[in-house]
Amino acid sequence: MIDAAVAAVSWEDEAVVYVDQRLLPHELRRAHARNVDEIEAAIRTLAVRGAPCIGVFAAYGIALLRRSIADAGALAEAVARVRSARPTAVNLAWAVDRVLAAADPLAEAQAIADEQRAIDAAIAEHGLALIPKGARILTHCNTGPLATAGGGTALGIVLHAQRAGKCPRVYVDETRPLLQGARLTYWELRRAGVDAVLQVDAAAAVAMAERAIDLVVVGADRIARNGDTANKIGTYGLAILAAYHGIPFYVAAPLSTFDFAAESGAHIPIEERSAGEVREVAGVAIAPSDAAVFNPAFDVTPARLIAAFVTERGIVTPPYPNALTALAPL
Ligand code: MRU
Repeated sequence: MIDAAVAAVSWEDEAVVYVDQRLLPHELRRAHARNVDEIEAAIRTLAVRGAPCIGVFAAYGIALLRRSIADAGALAEAVARVRSARPTAVNLAWAVDRVLAAADPLAEAQAIADEQRAIDAAIAEHGLALIPKGARILTHCNTGPLATAGGGTALGIVLHAQRAGKCPRVYVDETRPLLQGARLTYWELRRAGVDAVLQVDAAAAVAMAERAIDLVVVGADRIARNGDTANKIGTYGLAILAAYHGIPFYVAAPLSTFDFAAESGAHIPIEERSAGEVREVAGVAIAPSDAAVFNPAFDVTPARLIAAFVTERGIVTPPYPNALTALAPL
């Protein structure tokens, strides 16, 4: 688990404190959100990102707003802004609604943060069974401690495998356009002493064909009732490549990432982000400044391409949706 000095999100003196993930790996800097503008901006700009981490951050954020805004109309407006800051990660609305309904908002936010740490530990423990000793693992985006404010989901399994002496080798997709893999996953793996190899996203096919990748494991932003899974753009392509090469493709996520109200992937809202994220890298233009751009932040992997889900309740294998609906709250 991430050490206290790097805790992705915490509560201190009427502020939500977070690691500004935009600055990594160059700088590990903590920032404070003290009002709705700062809370919304941190989520929208991906200073705080990763579905469970957004949930924990929003939980503290809503607690802060409930403690600081007395007028009911102004509070409702502020809550709506936070709730809609990122549309695909269902943990956001889930956490907002939990804290809104709680008698003691701060205690509820702290409970969500504590639960996430316990859930991540359970996911890591269950997922360990899927990792052979010396496994060569491919992953996409960032699903480690920074992405959950706990121990991580998909990357939490990898980190646990390392602690268990399984010595995995991890092929890390850089994850264009915002490079969560290059900036965050590679950094987290190196800190943990894991053998990590960075590759451009387009190298995944040849990595599978030539380097004999044993498995792919990724996280999720929203999982529909039938198992269709929204995750970082590029995940769907990886799942197709894995199927072509006969490599198991796993999704690790807490139950809070399942949206049992969404019948299938077609019902998952997909966030589209600005053209600037594609036209530039770290503020440097790499395309004509007026290039027309298609920039969906997520894609949906059909359930039939997913060999198993790893949740805090254990490993779920097909047939979907039956195996998944058994997990739905009554
Ligand atoms: O846009 P991001 O960086 O918030 O996207 C993150 C992902 O797609 C992660 O895979 C997902 O949120 C799971 S994090 C445990």
